[in-house]
This record gives sequence, C-alpha cells and structure tokens, in this order.
Amino acid sequence: MSGDARFRIEALTDDAEARRLRIRWGDGHESRFHYVWLRHACFYPANPGLDPRNETLRPPDDPDRLALETMTLDDGVLAIRWAPDGESTRHEARWLREHCYCEDARRARKHRPSLWDGATAMALPWFAYDELSDDEGVYRLFLRIRDHGLARLRGVPATRDAIEHLAGLFGPIHETNYGRIFDVRTDSDIAVAANKASFLGPHTDENYRHAPPGISLFHCLEASANGGGESLLVDGFLAAERLSVSDPEAFELLGRVPIRFVGDSHQNDHLWAEGRVICRDGDGDVVGIRYTDRTLPPLDLPEDLIEPMYRALRAFAQELYSPNLPLRYLMRPGDLHVFDNQRVLHARTAFDPTAGTRHLQQCAVDRDEFHYRLRLMAIRRGLDDARLVMAGGALA
Ligand SMILES: [Fe+2]
Repeated sequence: MSGDARFRIEALTDDAEARRLRIRWGDGHESRFHYVWLRHACFYPANPGLDPRNETLRPPDDPDRLALETMTLDDGVLAIRWAPDGESTRHEARWLREHCYCEDARRARKHRPSLWDGATAMALPWFAYDELSDDEGVYRLFLRIRDHGLARLRGVPATRDAIEHLAGLFGPIHETNYGRIFDVRTDSDIAVAANKASFLGPHTDENYRHAPPGISLFHCLEASANGGGESLLVDGFLAAERLSVSDPEAFELLGRVPIRFVGDSHQNDHLWAEGRVICRDGDGDVVGIRYTDRTLPPLDLPEDLIEPMYRALRAFAQELYSPNLPLRYLMRPGDLHVFDNQRVLHARTAFDPTAGTRHLQQCAVDRDEFHYRLRLMAIRRGLDDARLVMAGGALA
C-alpha cells in the first residue's frame, strides 16, 4: 500500500440515504462515490481478469435498487458485495483517489490553456527544425501547442514535402476539398480568398464543416517581396475572455446559439454546417472557437435573435481586431507555424502580387489524433499529463 497520505483511506462511511460512500483520506480530503458509479467502475483496475465483453460492465440497469451487502477494506483495496444481484467489485484506494469527482479534483484534472496576446506570443521561443529529430523536442513542441495553441518553427527545409513530414508527427493529414496539401499562392487555379493578395481578417478555417480542421500547419516556401503579406495569429480564447468582460450578453449569446457557416467559394456553396462561435464545456469554460466574418450567410435565426446576434458578432470582431491581440510577423522561407485551428484565428495583411511570388503550403491534422499522441508521450514519461482533460474544440 502506498505510504502517500493522499492514497490512504482514513475513514469509510456508508451514506445509504444518498446511495453513496464517503471516504476521508490521509490528507484530510473527502471523496464521495455513488453506488452506481462504483458498481459501473467494477472493471478498474483491481479486477484485471474481468472480461471487458462481460455484460456486467454496462452501467447498472436499476441504480436506485443498489445497496451494499458487505464492504471490506483490506491492504488498500475496497471490496464490496452488492445487493440485489450479488455482484462484487474491488477498487484500489489509489485509483479511487485519482478518480475522485468532486469539483476541485475535476478542475485539477483539467488542462488550463495559457492565454496570449501579440507581445506574449512574440516572446515565446521558436523551435528549430533540428530539435524535432529527437523525441524530447517533439514532446516540447506538442506541449507548446497544447498550452498556447501555437508554435513557430524555423529552419524547416523549403521543399514541398517538408510540411507533410512535419504533419506526420501529429497524425494523418486531414484531407479537404483542396487535397492533402493546399498551395496558398496568387497564381493558383483555386479561387479562394487565401489565394488573393488582399487583407484577410482573423478567421478559423473551414467552419462550414461539422468538424473543422484541428491542428493546422502553414509553411513558407517563398515570402512576398515587398514586405506585405504578414501573418497575424490571434488567441481566440483570450478574445472570448475579453468579450466576457466587455460584453457579457454577446459572450453568452455566441456561446449558446449556433449559427450557419457556408463554404467560401462556389464549389463549396452546398457545404455548410452550424456551430457556436464560442464553444463552452459543461463547466462553462471556453474550449473552442469557430469564426469568420467573410463567409457568413445572412443569419437564419428566430426574429428576436437577429439584431442581438449581429451585435454580438460585431462585439466579438472588435475584440479580435484589437491592435495588441495578434502576433504579427512576416514569414520567411523555412518558417512554419502550427496552431490549433479551433482556438487560434489566422489573418494576413495585403501584399503586392506583382512584386514577387508568395507561396505557402498548408495542411491539417485532426485534434483528437494530436491529443492521443500527446497522451502516449506523457504515458511513456510516467507523467500525470496523460490524464489531463484537454479542450474539446469547436464541436462542443
Ligand atoms: Fe484560412
């Protein structure tokens, strides 16, 4: 049994009226575990021999009738025999503490994003491409994207296959209408705003998909010659937080009412999805952003929401366009930025297309695959980070 007081059960009380157990731990913390939860969790992890196909692993059919027949605590294992079905469960004390679901414990298991404005992001160190030849470097890169939703790399070979190689670190490439790799250049045959030379406001990509791209990569092969075409990146979580203070009604509305997004070219006119601009989880925390001001169709909402929603969109845009919010820089050949497209908005200043060729390549990987690989790396390092609940993104 662990000598750590956090995992030592000091007192065990059956609160039959509330159909739950109360456990007081060696460090004074109290956990409450409902019968139905303990019964359902019968397969963790003191019962390694249980067949996962066993039907008793389903949530109990009649939780209100569950009762304790016997309960023993022996060498850090809580063993319970349940009425009325006579089934048994065994739970290790440590596992129970690690899965305590009181508010504080759940919050502690939740990842807290690091919010940034332009100055903060500018001060973050770049990654050198060479760092990624080693597993520790890749892990550091993953953590930066998890925490800040953004990382910048330099020294990436300015070749067409480099982005594909880098994307492979995060997961399989998410193919779009424009293929696996999208060439952003003004002489492209693909008539989308990205391939024009005009200013492009802060937006997340492909909001017209139920699941927009997750981790997005932009690699510069050729920079514009006259200094235009700067990249801007905005932390949507910070913009949402600022909106919650400056205009709570707008924040509430954008987090509650989905609106429709459509594709941004004629070939995409029939590709559309609805989603919330500011996505919040069950705790009310902002976990995703879905936003563009360029391809929104006229709103299709109940009459009494039309004006409030236009006002709310305007208020959010004002936050996004705050001068100190974006990280702003001119990408050079070999620069690559990778960001969470369901958190970070990207934009571009106008440039002169006759002054030289500006050529970026873009591709994306799904966020769940990124999160999965990050957890595997944390598990290999024996870190609790593997259990952190990460932001659910723009699908929430
Ligand atoms: Fe874009």
